[in-house]
Amino acid sequence: MTVPDGFRQACLLDEVPEPGSLRVEFDEIDVAIVRSDGAVYAIEDVCSHAEVALSEGDVEGATIECWMHGSCFDLRSGAPTGPPATEPIDVFDVQVTDGVVYVNATARPTFGSRQNLAAVLKQKEQATS
Ligand code: FES
Repeated sequence: MTVPDGFRQACLLDEVPEPGSLRVEFDEIDVAIVRSDGAVYAIEDVCSHAEVALSEGDVEGATIECWMHGSCFDLRSGAPTGPPATEPIDVFDVQVTDGVVYVNATARPTFGSRQNLAAVLKQKEQATS
């Protein structure tokens, strides 16, 4: 089996509760792998409101709710869908093959307010080459 270009292994699908999420680390970036209603998502594991882990929040449909103050985010786009957060979070493309979850670290650098995963990984590559 070949890993698609740009994708890196994140975890096994069985490690992620459904509905629920699992925090994984890509270098210094925390990513939440989320399962809900048969879908798998990958989001930046940091609430854009006060920077706590979203992987500890509740998942329902395509929404994750922050446990701290209740902000909701669309798992597909990263857009805030419930206050108090007003800034989006980064989302990443996911592929599940043979029970393994792969995340594309470069495909969807989104519009989050913080430096995104793709940018961080690119900087690290440049620093080591
Ligand atoms: S820290 Fe997430 S809603 Fe406040």
